Amino acid sequence: MAGKVLVLGANGNVGKPLVKLLLDKGESVKAASRSGNAIDGAEAVRFDYDDAATFGPAFEGVDRAYIMLAGGYVDAKGKLLPVIEAAISRNVKIVFQSVLGVDADDSIPYRQVELTIINSGVPYVILRPNWFSDNFHTYWKAGIDHGQVSVPADDGKSSFIDVRDIAASAAAALTTSNFDGKAFNLTGPEGLGYADAIALISKATGKPVTYLTLSDEAFIGLLTGVGVPEDYATFLTSIFYPVRQGWTSGVTGDVETLTGKPARSLETYIADNLATLKA
Ligand SMILES: NC(=O)c1ccc[n+]([C@@H]2O[C@H](COP(=O)([O-])OP(=O)(O)OC[C@H]3O[C@@H](n4cnc5c(N)ncnc54)[C@H](OP(=O)(O)O)[C@@H]3O)[C@@H](O)[C@H]2O)c1
Repeated sequence: MAGKVLVLGANGNVGKPLVKLLLDKGESVKAASRSGNAIDGAEAVRFDYDDAATFGPAFEGVDRAYIMLAGGYVDAKGKLLPVIEAAISRNVKIVFQSVLGVDADDSIPYRQVELTIINSGVPYVILRPNWFSDNFHTYWKAGIDHGQVSVPADDGKSSFIDVRDIAASAAAALTTSNFDGKAFNLTGPEGLGYADAIALISKATGKPVTYLTLSDEAFIGLLTGVGVPEDYATFLTSIFYPVRQGWTSGVTGDVETLTGKPARSLETYIADNLATLKA
């Protein structure tokens, strides 16, 4: 393919390994960030969902784009649709990082973004990852350090996925047309409850950590108490409902379909991130 690949969120959990994989495949990569700071081997470009003036320069010379919304934002349609429209108007292939389960209901904002892409006529691939394994060293790290991870999951299971497998799936979707016009549900290889996951982390790190399930109200209070804005705290709480219902426990072979390799287990994630989890 002749053009460049634009990667949004290039400094983020998925974007960082994705940029590296694309460079390793010999692609010309435009790595987007709000700062526009250089990223090794890639062309750095300034990009902000809230500044449409950054879209034109970001899409210059691009024929494929990895489009995702950073964590911390609630308004998926408001942030993403202008970027999606910019890609569509330039006939850029879109690989979109969505969220597992949003296709259950067409009124869900992320699903409406998916449908805009599907109905646009541009080549696309939709990736719907499950809960990230990597949340344990980001969102839940403070709980691990305090000896108790508290989320409103009850004993619901999730097939946690390693961000390296999301990045590898995205790299495959961006560098061949074999998967165009399809959506993939990206999961890890096994559904695990938070108690199971925390027990594995506790054993590997040697830190005594337990799991406590919370009510929605208590979880919102916990998050807002550490400075999370109330709308985002409410949003994070709402996405544990599918976990409690068991809807995030299933396992697919979609990572292997896209990458040729089975998805990494939570044990592998823990072993490979042990120093960070221990720190
Ligand atoms: N965590 C999970 O378990 C999970 C599960 C399924 C789906 N998801 C979805 O995955 C997404 C998050 O993926 P991620 O963790 O890879 O992202 P991320 O690391 O939270 O964010 C990626 C990058 O986006 C950039 N960014 C922040 N605000 C921006 C803005 N206004 N304009 C442009 N760039 C901005 C930041 O880099 P700079 O500071 O360099 O700009 C950030 O490093 C969310 O949409 C979430 O719904 C998450």
